[in-house]
Amino acid sequence: MTHTKSVLIVGGSGYLGSYLAKRLRDGYKVYATYFKKPAAIPGVSFIPMDVENRNWVKRVVYTTQPSVVIYVAGSNDMQEAEKNARNCERLHADGPTTLAGSTDIMQPRFIYLSNSYVFDGTKGNYHEQDTILPGTVLGRMKSGGENAMKSKCLNYIILRSSPTFGRSNGLNLSFFDRLRMTLDRGKRIELSTDELHAFAPLDGLCDLIIKLIGSGVKNRVLHYGGLTKMNHFEFGQAFAKRFGYDPNLVVARTASQNTDGQPLFDFSLNFTQAVDILKIKPFLLEEGFDLIEQQLIPKS
Ligand SMILES: NC(=O)c1ccc[n+]([C@@H]2O[C@H](COP(=O)([O-])OP(=O)(O)OC[C@H]3O[C@@H](n4cnc5c(N)ncnc54)[C@H](OP(=O)(O)O)[C@@H]3O)[C@@H](O)[C@H]2O)c1
Repeated sequence: MTHTKSVLIVGGSGYLGSYLAKRLRDGYKVYATYFKKPAAIPGVSFIPMDVENRNWVKRVVYTTQPSVVIYVAGSNDMQEAEKNARNCERLHADGPTTLAGSTDIMQPRFIYLSNSYVFDGTKGNYHEQDTILPGTVLGRMKSGGENAMKSKCLNYIILRSSPTFGRSNGLNLSFFDRLRMTLDRGKRIELSTDELHAFAPLDGLCDLIIKLIGSGVKNRVLHYGGLTKMNHFEFGQAFAKRFGYDPNLVVARTASQNTDGQPLFDFSLNFTQAVDILKIKPFLLEEGFDLIEQQLIPKS
């Protein structure tokens, strides 16, 4: 089958990028970039790319001629961002700026994956029009990436996603992989109680991106999240209970300044705008678990 539209996934070897590549390959010619870990997915063309190398980025863009660029490079790990702020800036703010600059003549549809750390976490249930006030390195750099979209692209979507759960390709492990693999080995895992999030399935995020690519929606910010708000510890316990692991293996880790054990921050995102505009379904946690059950149980 010949595809007329090509999609360039920057960060295509990652947890999110590789899953998205698999979901998109039937409808599009998919190019996916990797940095250090070459991935292989049938029907997807992988290209090495460092977003810091401007000349190479230009060559990739001119060779692939994408109708759609999806920027999912960089890690979503807040601790890693605090440890290496400069690297975080390169990936989440400078990288999108370079890509947007390199595509300015062709102006493809540009989807930038941001997150809920652009907010300060004091109120939760954040809507798209709420004022962003990042209090973390990762949040500040995401806000830098968002600004690059707004100032350089004529056809962009900034998609702020809550933490997603789903199985990775094994090259870049997600929080969910680490949880599952630790419980599989019968080991204890400490998970934080400090932040509330609207955890949501990765499949739902891919559905949303696929709908967005085909829609006329442009130059706006949209949120993605689930209907159930919880902290990482509660998520781990819910997962253990649902999939037959011992929930006592999931242990609460609470920050020292957190004296009453209540979450310090609420980063939950409100997903109603995307649901209304694109007519997609929001997920309760249990429904998200139903979706990933199909990936986890080996087919006999
Ligand atoms: N995971 C979530 O639930 C979630 C939620 C909201 C937003 N996001 C955002 O989505 C993006 C991807 O998250 P993820 O969890 O999929 O991360 P991940 O699994 O760690 O993947 C990161 C990707 O970035 C690539 N990369 C690293 N350094 C690079 C460089 N210098 N140049 C080009 N590519 C580079 C990696 O390539 P190699 O592996 O080949 O080195 C990999 O493909 C992040 O921006 C994150 O903030 C994720």
